[in-house]
Amino acid sequence: MGVELVIAEDGEDAARRTAEILTAAARRGGHIALSGGSTPRRAYELAAELERDWSGVDAWLGDERCVPADDDRANVRLVRESLAARALLPPALHPVDTTLPPVRAAAAYDADLEGVVLELTLMGIGPDGHTASLYPHEPSLDETAARVVAAPARLEPWVDRVTMTVPMLCSAREVVFLVVGADKAEAARRAFAEPPSQATPASLVRSTSGRTIVILDRAAAAEVR
Ligand code: 6PG
Repeated sequence: MGVELVIAEDGEDAARRTAEILTAAARRGGHIALSGGSTPRRAYELAAELERDWSGVDAWLGDERCVPADDDRANVRLVRESLAARALLPPALHPVDTTLPPVRAAAAYDADLEGVVLELTLMGIGPDGHTASLYPHEPSLDETAARVVAAPARLEPWVDRVTMTVPMLCSAREVVFLVVGADKAEAARRAFAEPPSQATPASLVRSTSGRTIVILDRAAAAEVR
């Protein structure tokens, strides 16, 4: 499961390279899954500057925190503020219904995704090697049938999660990782330079039909090269 490594100068350069890939996907149109966390915000802002028309895109969330949609920990709020609200013609945004309990919210999002083929999924990685809300050695990593499951929090923010599963994420034609900062270097080595392992969920997510692109800044790439 080869990956294409892209080593950027710094966080801004990594965000720009990610924005270019996101806008190429926006111009092709189709379904994309977006990451949460703090790292992708700049890439979303730049992507909305580079391409004003996202009307051909259905934007989904690779995972969500089970908080109200306007909560500042909500991934949908991040995507709405940094991308959708800045585009002239916004994407169709598909939020997770976090008014439901996590298991029902996951089942509802799973049903919404029936028949959906992801053109691209943008992923982040945590210092522990998690990606989306797929944490090391969790039963969610063994899920093969569901597209989406509920997951307990394993780090900040300490709220329940709803996450796409490994098979759903791997079904994307393009899997793109954006990884920035020295605190991610060890996890990046385990995820992209060592054999796949449930100790490092990010090592399990690779496109099964297309490309897997890993964009790292120099600090995050320190142990991969
Ligand atoms: C989330 C994300 C998660 C994130 C990593 C990295 O909902 O938190 O989907 O997987 O990508 O935790 O987070 P940072 O970008 O904040 O370091």
